[in-house]
Amino acid sequence: MSIPLSIEWNNKRLKILDQQKLPLEVDYLTLETLEDVYDAIITLKVRGAPAIGITASHGLAATAQRYETNSLEQFHQLLCKDATYLAESRPTAVNLVWALERLRNAVQNAATVQEAKERLLEEAEIIHKEDEASCRTIGEFALSLLGDVTKVMTICNAGTIATAKYGTALAPFHLGSERGKQFQVFACETRPVFQGSRLTVWELQQSGVDVTLITDSMAAHTIGAKGIEAIIVGADRIVANGDTANKIGTFNLALLAAAFQIPFYVAAPSSTFDLTIESGEKIPIEERPSEEITHIAGKQVAPNDTKVYNPAFDVTPSSLISAIITEKGIIYPEYNENISAILSLEKGD
Ligand code: MRU
Repeated sequence: MSIPLSIEWNNKRLKILDQQKLPLEVDYLTLETLEDVYDAIITLKVRGAPAIGITASHGLAATAQRYETNSLEQFHQLLCKDATYLAESRPTAVNLVWALERLRNAVQNAATVQEAKERLLEEAEIIHKEDEASCRTIGEFALSLLGDVTKVMTICNAGTIATAKYGTALAPFHLGSERGKQFQVFACETRPVFQGSRLTVWELQQSGVDVTLITDSMAAHTIGAKGIEAIIVGADRIVANGDTANKIGTFNLALLAAAFQIPFYVAAPSSTFDLTIESGEKIPIEERPSEEITHIAGKQVAPNDTKVYNPAFDVTPSSLISAIITEKGIIYPEYNENISAILSLEKGD
């Protein structure tokens, strides 16, 4: 698979593929400061739940190298302040808080500031590598679950550029392509900011996957007209009962899958689960600037002063989800029991 990586970490230098410029330009941006990292996340230069977490962890580890103190107490205070700042950049994807927490936990028992600094760098690299391995395994499970299915619909971009590599919902298509399995993928364009058309179509084309672009409003018609056999999506946060937050429009697709009696699959690593929340109503849903809807590529497409509601995510009730594909295995209903059993997590962990 030769698609550019979304995050590069070399010699303590953090570079991200600028996803705002895709598909017209493949350009990397160096993130020098914590503010650069915050800005890259909030402006969607780097996006996708796992990629946000990985970027934030390298960004925090790199920033901590510059703390000028020998006091461990002061080091922990600075780390807490900077982690809190980054965590506020995007509220829905739990991978962000999860990665920052992992860094903070990694230095709990450090004996010196120098040791703490080294541990942060190591932990960020581990998070990065683990995500690549998890995504590959998710791809293998998803391939086996899809079996003979070839016509699949997806939304947003849960691909290699949304993760360390391979992606989650798009991983089976990349792996399938390497092994000569021909999927036909229908990608919803994903209004308002077109992660489907700009990113998923571009990414799958790089992999030689047969991909067809539709607008979001064409989904119901296309499922019937083209004989879509399954829908697969990524996730930003999956809670204890299996309710799943993902890109706005995902819930619509889940309802359509039920109406057409085709399976609706969610693919996500265990870092996307938040078992501290019992059900979906408690998931914080990010609202984004109105210009994302009133303007397209800088051109105004709604009257001046249009009142706008722009939630970036919706929550699909677990009753509409046929299975959740993780690196630890495929989880089927009854989710309340099976999620904690398969992930070996206690509720509240
Ligand atoms: O707003 P975005 O582009 O960050 O939203 C991304 C999604 O909704 C993805 O489906 C999700 O983060 C999973 S990425 C593997």
